[in-house]
Amino acid sequence: MKNIAKIADLSQEDLEGIVGMADRYRSERMNGEAGDRPLAGRFVALVFEKPSLRTKVSFEVATVSLGGHPVFLSAGQIFVSGSKQAGRESIPDIGRNLERFCDILVARVYSHSTISTLCSTVKVPVINALCDQHHPCQAIADVITMERLAPQGPKGLKVAYVGDGNNVATSLVQACVMRGHSIVVASPKGYEIPEGEQRVTHSRRVSPQQSIEFIHNPVEAVTGADIIYTDTFVSMGQEEEHHHRLKAFAGYQVDAALMAQAPSHVKFMHCLPAHRGEEVTDEVMDGPQSVVFEQAESRLHVAKAVLAWVLQA
Ligand code: CP
Ligand code: NVA
Repeated sequence: MKNIAKIADLSQEDLEGIVGMADRYRSERMNGEAGDRPLAGRFVALVFEKPSLRTKVSFEVATVSLGGHPVFLSAGQIFVSGSKQAGRESIPDIGRNLERFCDILVARVYSHSTISTLCSTVKVPVINALCDQHHPCQAIADVITMERLAPQGPKGLKVAYVGDGNNVATSLVQACVMRGHSIVVASPKGYEIPEGEQRVTHSRRVSPQQSIEFIHNPVEAVTGADIIYTDTFVSMGQEEEHHHRLKAFAGYQVDAALMAQAPSHVKFMHCLPAHRGEEVTDEVMDGPQSVVFEQAESRLHVAKAVLAWVLQA
């Protein structure tokens, strides 16, 4: 059974295969070609405990474009783990029901353990659409975006992530390292990517030329960077920490002054939603170096690719 629970579960060949499929779906869409319909007659359950714009819409559009039918279930319909509300039924029971109706489960959940439980319980593929620790579909979209748009070509980029060592950061650095890029992450003390995930990141290096650094100084991180990436300082589920986190992340905002520390060809990326005025300024978001909406569009190509890939024998 093929699942996409986290980036580090994928082999090098798996990631290359998915990236290649996403590139093909992008070209077909650009050229107005109809393409294949590997989801014809298939049903895709989209189980979302948390809000979403890009992930929900890209998976729904991808499913229909590939000939399938999406079935969206919000937290108001079934409560899964981690929700403040009591669960209507257990996660394994939800999975065992959904697999009787649907061919793929796409789940956005509070806790990674929910993804693990679904993967070990159900007999249909499970795709992680974001949890507290990982956001693999975002990271695949991120690498295809930077490899396409970096002015000096797709190989050996230097990617600087500034901000919270969260789900997006973890998946991003692991995907970048598996694609041969160098990464540097600058986070405040106490908000680093978890040590275990840093070790996993080192273990997926593909070339001795790659540099992998976890530091605290944002200016040092962006020096020489081809890509500057940030994400919210307050992820979904951390709303009560908002005030405290904004204080902890003072000095980590990506603004014009920080962008100016990098070479002029640097691109700005953000998974979105952006919290303008917190982790990034309007000037950077809307400036000529920002590729955030191209990055968002890549989510569609990757949604198609992962849906088709998990169904391959
Ligand atoms: N980047 C991302 O996953 O966006 P949504 O939360 O809107 O799905
Ligand atoms: N880190 C953010 C990403 C949203 C796409 C969150 O988990 O809320």
